[in-house]
Amino acid sequence: FNKNARQSPDNFVSADDEKMASENLRIVMKDDYFPSFSCPSIIGFYCIDEKRQFLPSSKNLKYLLRPNPTAKLNLNSGFETYIPKTETIENEERIDSLFHWISHNQYFSTLTQEREYTFVCFRGLLTTIMRTPYERQEDWFISAVKVKNVIFLCTFHTDDKKAKIQASKTKQEEYFEFWGRKFEQYMLTDDPRKKPDLLKPVNANEEFCLVFRAKLNSNRLIYGGETDGINNRKLTDPDSQLKSISPAEFVELKTNRIIQSSHQDRNFKKFKLLKWWSQSFLVGIQKIICGFRDDDGIVRQFHDFRTSDLTKMAQQFWSPRVCMRFLDDFLNFVKATMESEPDMSQWRFDWKPGWPQVTAEKMTPSSVYNIIPSWFLNECKN
Ligand code: A3P
Ligand code: MG
Ligand code: MG
Repeated sequence: FNKNARQSPDNFVSADDEKMASENLRIVMKDDYFPSFSCPSIIGFYCIDEKRQFLPSSKNLKYLLRPNPTAKLNLNSGFETYIPKTETIENEERIDSLFHWISHNQYFSTLTQEREYTFVCFRGLLTTIMRTPYERQEDWFISAVKVKNVIFLCTFHTDDKKAKIQASKTKQEEYFEFWGRKFEQYMLTDDPRKKPDLLKPVNANEEFCLVFRAKLNSNRLIYGGETDGINNRKLTDPDSQLKSISPAEFVELKTNRIIQSSHQDRNFKKFKLLKWWSQSFLVGIQKIICGFRDDDGIVRQFHDFRTSDLTKMAQQFWSPRVCMRFLDDFLNFVKATMESEPDMSQWRFDWKPGWPQVTAEKMTPSSVYNIIPSWFLNECKN
């Protein structure tokens, strides 16, 4: 690292009492404390359309409509017309949709009126950090830029990730991806009084996102997260009703292969449930509906999981306390690193499996990793 490189402070360094996490990343766990995490509240919503453009609307909001529990859903139907995400390595998406949401809702002035710092990012970035103590395969690279008392965070593809994207998907990977999306189409409808349109091509570009506000210890957070559907009657006026709805009204949909061996059960708990829990816990979703499928892509059973039960099911493998404390430590480290920096300075934070610490490095100003669009900066000046 260059001379600007810093290493995270002692709170990332080892303790013997947390063997699970310390296998690959050492963190202090001297006591049982769980950081305080306020129940996230919904402060807004937006859509991403089929061209991956921001829409200040609830057009893509979907409602849960459960099929007959004995139905055998064939997840292969329509595979030929599937439209995957259009994102490529060259046009890696940043957090522009959040800037559009902030601008549309004139929210930047609300944030700068606070005395404390606020972090703005996607939910996916937070779950990546939360899982770091248990991560053995994927590295990460986060760029951070500060404007006044707001720190914007955005992940970028690492070289490893770029190589994975460039190696084209196997047919089986294409099917796995499609099956998850097709399951959503079977379970969700635009209007709960009408059955889903199962003939419409599945388009992975379209999203409905909620924007949340939460607080982890002293760290204020604003984050956007793609949301599968709401378990509710038809909202008469979604644009005004959505902001007063509890996140517990939303559901997360998942598919998984039917579990038939202790090896599969172990992998499910160790890896899948950590992903499922971190994703839903952060946005206050309490119900995860899984369609268990066979190897041919036929859903054979449904099972509803309570998000809070996942931690008990998987307590042998990971602890939510480790995840949330690591996230809190990371945010404190970012804040301590950037607090005394001038506005617009760019820092990168990196971690790879096997590294005992997260590193921070000041970047020379460049447009490559500058996550703040110029139109947004111009707005801030006015
Ligand atoms: P499954 O998770 O059931 O396999 P999400 O569960 O986050 O709502 O995502 C919906 C579906 O999108 C996933 O369903 C999967 O099919 C697909 N998907 C999401 N993230 C993916 C990724 N990183 N790679 C491939 N497919 C992905
Ligand atoms: Mg989803
Ligand atoms: Mg889902």
